[in-house]
Order: sequence, then C-alpha cells, then structure tokens
Amino acid sequence: MDNLIESSKVIASQVDLFQLQVMLIFKQIETMQREITSQQSKKLPTATLVQSQQQKKPEDEVQNMISSTVELPRIGGLKDIAGLWKIKKQLKSLVILPLNQPQLFINHKVVNSILLFGPPGTGKTHLVHALASEAKAVLYGVSISNMLSPFVGQSEKNVQALFEHVRHSEHSSILFIDEVDGFCRTRNNAEQDHSRRLKTELMCQMSKLEGASNVFLICATNCPWDLDTAFLRRFQKRLYVPLPNIAERRELFQLFTRNTPLEVYRNHWSELIEKTDGFSGSDVSDLVQGALNLPITELEDTKIWKPSEDGFYEPIVTAEDFNRDDIVCCDLSDLPFGSVRTRPVQMLDLFNSLDDITPTVSVTDIKKYETFVSK
Ligand SMILES: Nc1ncnc2c1ncn2[C@@H]1O[C@H](COP(=O)(O)OP(=O)(O)O)[C@@H](O)[C@H]1O
Ligand SMILES: [Mg+2]
Repeated sequence: MDNLIESSKVIASQVDLFQLQVMLIFKQIETMQREITSQQSKKLPTATLVQSQQQKKPEDEVQNMISSTVELPRIGGLKDIAGLWKIKKQLKSLVILPLNQPQLFINHKVVNSILLFGPPGTGKTHLVHALASEAKAVLYGVSISNMLSPFVGQSEKNVQALFEHVRHSEHSSILFIDEVDGFCRTRNNAEQDHSRRLKTELMCQMSKLEGASNVFLICATNCPWDLDTAFLRRFQKRLYVPLPNIAERRELFQLFTRNTPLEVYRNHWSELIEKTDGFSGSDVSDLVQGALNLPITELEDTKIWKPSEDGFYEPIVTAEDFNRDDIVCCDLSDLPFGSVRTRPVQMLDLFNSLDDITPTVSVTDIKKYETFVSK
C-alpha cells in the first residue's frame, strides 16, 4: 500500500513538471510573437503594413489566376473532329488564316469574338481545343471559378488583367469561356451585384479585343437563349453546331472505332447509322464504348469457360464450344488471378448497346435551337 502511495506521488509530481514545461513553451511563443510584431511595426508604420499586405495579395492572386487558366489542348487538331465540315471550314478561315497569313487581313477586320452554340455533346468544347492545337495558340480556359475573388472588385480586375495579359502577349491566344451561360445570363432583378459587374467588365474587354490580330475569344453554350442580349450582340460571329447528319455519323463511327476490333465492321454500318438519327457525337461515342464494354460486363454472369491454347479462360460463345471436353464450370471469382480473357466484341454488340442508349437531345430541344437560329 505504501509503495502504491509512493509511486502515485511520483507520477503526480511528473505530471506537474510536464504542465510547467508546456506553460513555459507557451510563454516563450508569446514573447517571440510580441518581439516580431514590435520589430515589424518599427520598420513600417501600421497603416503601411496593412496596406502592403492588402496590395500584395491581389497581385499574387492575379498572377496565380492567369497561370491557372492556361490549359493544354486535349485534341491534336481538327482532323480529330468528325463531321462538322462547315464549322471547321469557317473556324479555319476565321482563326487559323489570320494567324498564318496575317498579310491577308491588313485591310480586313479580324473576327475576334465567336460564339459556338448548339445541343450538348456536339463537339463544341472539342472544337476549341482542336483549334488551339492547330493554331499553336495558348489556350486560356476562363470560368467563373477562376475569375471570382473574395476581395471586393477583384473579380472584375481579374478579367481585366487576363484580357490585358493576352492583348500584350506576343503569342497567339485563344480565350475560351465554356458554358458561358453561367457567366452572362439574362439580366434579372435577383442578379447579384458582383455577377452584374463581372458581366459588364467582360463586355467592355470584348470591345477592346476588336482589331487585335492574334487574340480570339471563343465562347460556347448549350443554352444561347439564356444569354444576355447585349452580350449576345457583342459576338462578331455566332456559329450553330448542330447534331450530326447521316454522313457525319458515319465519320463519328469511323473515328470512335478506330484501332478497336469493331473497325473491321465499317462496311456494315448503314443500318446502325440510320437508327442513330437524333444522336449527338457524344451519344455515338457512348454507344461505341458501351459495345466495347459489353464483353467485359458479361464476365460477371458467365458460368462456363473454355481454356484457350495460350492458357487463358474465355467465356464459351458457340454451340461447338459446349461439346469440348475441357470446359470449366465456375464463377469469375473462382478463376486464378490474371487468367481471364473476354470473348471478341462483335457487330451485334453495337446493336445491343444501341438499346441501352436514349438520345440526349429531344426533338423539342432541336426545335428550340432552330427557332433561335432563325431569329
Ligand atoms: N464531332 C465530333 N468529333 C469527335 N468527337 C465528338 C464530336 N462530337 C462529340 N464528340 C464526342 O463527344 C464528347 C463531348 O464533346 P464536347 O466537345 O464536350 O461537346 P459539347 O461541348 O458540344 O457539349 C467528346 O468527348 C467527344 O468524344
Ligand atoms: Mg462543352
């Protein structure tokens, strides 16, 4: 018992010592902080200190903001865009020609602001990336998130700084505002003050771009009717990017099946192409991906396998396979690690995948675009 009392006294004194050490450390930190603050205030009057901090932060922010907008084009060039021949031709003469043959535009106005509008998944974003690659231009992806700042008035200054930066840059530049309807919606009473100011600044900067020979502002939207009319009018060119027609869908199938086992069926696509009327490029891409994935998704339900000559297990597909005496009956999870192979993908998979896909764009939506174009 005495031993127990003795050892608890020792522990209590050790705890006291520890608490004392912690208090001492806190005191030392407090003293150091006071010293630093007094030294800083000796060097700079308080007002200057606060001011310099406020000035420094937005400047750094602007530099960071400009660098954060630079994007690496995801598409190699316009050759990677299927169909859209008319739009590609227009974009070539509007953007690539003035950059490659500037002498042609000495007495001609360069069109600096272009709006691409049309149903979702028709390749608008892809087109701009392809254009930036082809024009060897620096691509600046402008979005609300990289323009907005917590400092009052700084968001407009960000827009101004970015446009000024590209106007003075010696490189060719493409400023790209994707889904611009998020930026410049129709004015309404509920609109917040900061977004109104941001929009006004953007329109002001658009006017300043006019005449620049190597800077282009390209905006894209799926909902052109949501755009502020004043903003809409600022675009020197508005291009409708429609759903692909029959010939364009053929090119889309060719593009998406390139270097896949489905490539060999390219002479048998007519029925498929007819059945995909109303599909966007993105829907066609989903269809092909779906077909390529079907043999993989089937594996989970497969119960009968045949060993291949090179040591893999494959699902059985033909009636002849059933008669083999080396077939294995088990679940996918029972087979050894790395030993499974899918059955080959077939033309039929494209039709089966078609059953799983509903076109994204409805006939009513298309009418809305056509009405907008005809206005
Ligand atoms: N004309 C096209 N050429 C190549 N790919 C296309 C085309 N249209 C759509 N796509 C495919 O659809 C996807 C969506 O395209 P995207 O450019 O983002 O459409 P949008 O910006 O019009 O909504 C792309 O990833 C691409 O695979
Ligand atoms: Mg897009």
